Amino acid sequence: MTKKDKSCILVTGGAGFIGSHLCEYLLRSDHKVVCVDNFNNFYDPGIKEQNISALMNNEDFSLVRADIRNRAGMAEIFEENNPDLIIHLAAMPGVRPSIIDPFHYYDVNVNGTLTVLETMRRFNVSRMIFASSSSVYGNNAKIPFSESDPVDNPISPYASSKRACELLCSTYHSLYRFEISCLRFFTVYGPRQRPDLAIHSFTNKIIDDRPIQIYGDGNSFRDYTYIDDALQGIGNSISRLKGFNIYNIGESRKVLLSEVIETIEDALGKKAIKEFLPFQAGDVNATYADISKAMRELDYKPSFDFKKGIAEFIRWKLGRGF
Ligand SMILES: NC(=O)c1ccc[n+]([C@@H]2O[C@H](COP(=O)([O-])OP(=O)(O)OC[C@H]3O[C@@H](n4cnc5c(N)ncnc54)[C@H](O)[C@@H]3O)[C@@H](O)[C@H]2O)c1
Repeated sequence: MTKKDKSCILVTGGAGFIGSHLCEYLLRSDHKVVCVDNFNNFYDPGIKEQNISALMNNEDFSLVRADIRNRAGMAEIFEENNPDLIIHLAAMPGVRPSIIDPFHYYDVNVNGTLTVLETMRRFNVSRMIFASSSSVYGNNAKIPFSESDPVDNPISPYASSKRACELLCSTYHSLYRFEISCLRFFTVYGPRQRPDLAIHSFTNKIIDDRPIQIYGDGNSFRDYTYIDDALQGIGNSISRLKGFNIYNIGESRKVLLSEVIETIEDALGKKAIKEFLPFQAGDVNATYADISKAMRELDYKPSFDFKKGIAEFIRWKLGRGF
């Protein structure tokens, strides 16, 4: 493929945890990448600068510091770069903070997504992959969670904002025949993981001899997805983008919170100081993905063993991690 033929993929939120890995992955797969990020301060923006620093000299990579809610700014970016596909990751993440500031979460996540979709319509771009979340399932009684399960009871503004975005994507498919896949990620982890997420925050606290907070009795469980598997899910969706679809992207494996802590302790060779606290509003008890649809339709085959994934994360953390 000559440089001229390379397709241009616009990644919103490309300086974040998943986004920075995705930009690297797309560049390795011979795409041109435009990363749009506003470097918000949900966590230290310096971390995001560091996430993409190695890409700044890549001639196929360009960074635009912009807010996805800025309609005129987004129009300029589309005009200038003529993207073929949008991978929309920019969002306010996190369940608990969304309860404290729901207006901001809705503004960025829902109005931001609407701005991206409307800009696509104006510039005749019709292909999108959207980062949704397992949180849309709320406290679904049936496990594992399947895409055909009802998702009418999200239990945090973050979760309902992600569901609202899925519905907007479906509307743009039905009005304008956009081809959109919404990927419901189940807790993604690995090098550069967001510092607010449990694996990273537990690790920081254990290293610093600070107590870790365990909400509930440690028997809640999650499906944890290693970053490489999440990238495989996104990558495989690009070539199979057709119509409107929703896919679970997880490992289809239950990991108890107590097991997460033990695995980190083993990898660090150090015990955690544990503080048990009541379960928090907005947190779900369990997540567990039925991934048969993604396996069948996206040829998605997650392969990362949890112990190995944590070992990779800790190796990064003790090496050059933030
Ligand atoms: N990490 C996970 O476990 C997980 C699970 C489910 C869903 N997701 C979703 O995947 C996406 C990426 O998550 P992440 O963990 O990499 O988060 P992240 O916070 O590391 O990345 C999000 C990026 O979006 C940028 N951003 C936020 N608001 C913006 C705006 N208005 N304009 C432009 N850029 C903006 C941020 O600066 C950040 O760099 C998010 O949509 C998140 O909701 C993540």
